[in-house]
Amino acid sequence: MEIPKTYRALVVRENDDGTFVKSTEEVGFEFLPDNDVVIKVHYAALNYKDALSASGHRGITKKYPHTPGVDASGVVVRSRDDRYAPGDAVIVTSYDLGMNTKGGFAEYISVPGDWVIALPAGLSLREAMVIGTGGFTAALALHKMEAGGQHPDMGEIVVTGAGGGVGSMAVAVFKAAGYKVIASSGKTEHYPWLKKIGAKHCVNREEVRDESEKPLLRPRWAGAVDTVGGKTLTTLLKACGRNGNVAACGLVASPKFDTTVYPFILNGVNLLGIESAETPRKVRQEIWKRLAGDLKPPLIEEMQHITTLEKIPDYMDDILEGETSGRVVAHIADA
Ligand SMILES: NC(=O)c1ccc[n+]([C@@H]2O[C@H](COP(=O)([O-])OP(=O)(O)OC[C@H]3O[C@@H](n4cnc5c(N)ncnc54)[C@H](OP(=O)(O)O)[C@@H]3O)[C@@H](O)[C@H]2O)c1
Repeated sequence: MEIPKTYRALVVRENDDGTFVKSTEEVGFEFLPDNDVVIKVHYAALNYKDALSASGHRGITKKYPHTPGVDASGVVVRSRDDRYAPGDAVIVTSYDLGMNTKGGFAEYISVPGDWVIALPAGLSLREAMVIGTGGFTAALALHKMEAGGQHPDMGEIVVTGAGGGVGSMAVAVFKAAGYKVIASSGKTEHYPWLKKIGAKHCVNREEVRDESEKPLLRPRWAGAVDTVGGKTLTTLLKACGRNGNVAACGLVASPKFDTTVYPFILNGVNLLGIESAETPRKVRQEIWKRLAGDLKPPLIEEMQHITTLEKIPDYMDDILEGETSGRVVAHIADA
């Protein structure tokens, strides 16, 4: 397949005064690293991590100019890896994409073959990005919670930050797996939509934020998926039922939390770390297969906002302020 000499990309540049600017530019192919698989990007998804990278967060991206975008789907245009050939439809999520490797907010990416997953049957390139890292993280939480003994018969699962990308996908994925889901959100206007995509009922995020010093609370859920951190995570542990699993996925409120050992030694609660970026390839393939099958959100069309490459910067501040809902997907190019 023919590869052009230049391509369009969202480029984040650092000014002399330490501020950052982002705009769509025509860049030469040498802007990309020389990796084994070059992919023409059809869709990319917007994540919290992208908003951090686009705002100059050195914990995510060390060197600028840079193109963020941890999620991309598209078609292979050049491959030095025997597993992939031009024309293959593929997904790349996480690893280092969009962090210190030029990411999916561009017409092309160049990545190591190990980062590439063949698009599973049952998903379109667009649907794969509606799911993206958010859906993959939610399904990884389910995978680890079930390995920790979680079962729908134990009772309801609470999902915090339910209006966000990981949260809304967790609502849909756990519902698809047979669980009754409590969606915790800061925005009452999200409730009808959260119920539509799978929540049994919704609670205000303040109800999942206990300010008392009590080491344990009356059990209110059988397990939890947390994207918030801080006092919310402390509360999830205190009020989790016996032998339940609490999956720590995110930190939108705080990376710090306090706990006593009581939830663990008196109630047998498991605190699980969810790290999607470096999930081993075999597990990754299994999870994507399930996301294209039994875990595919039936109302996936209701979980997306579609935008364009040029409009991606408009969403970045909203993501950092927690003002977006569901998954935002950029349509980068047609076949
Ligand atoms: N572990 C992993 O592998 C992994 C993978 C992907 C993402 N993450 C992390 O998961 C978190 C969520 O990512 P995302 O892409 O889903 O982000 P997102 O789409 O921006 O969603 C975050 C949601 O959290 C809620 N929220 C925002 N600020 C809050 C606050 N101060 N207190 C309580 N709730 C707040 C909001 O939901 P409501 O309006 O409904 O309350 C918001 O929509 C981030 O910390 C991200 O870094 C981790």
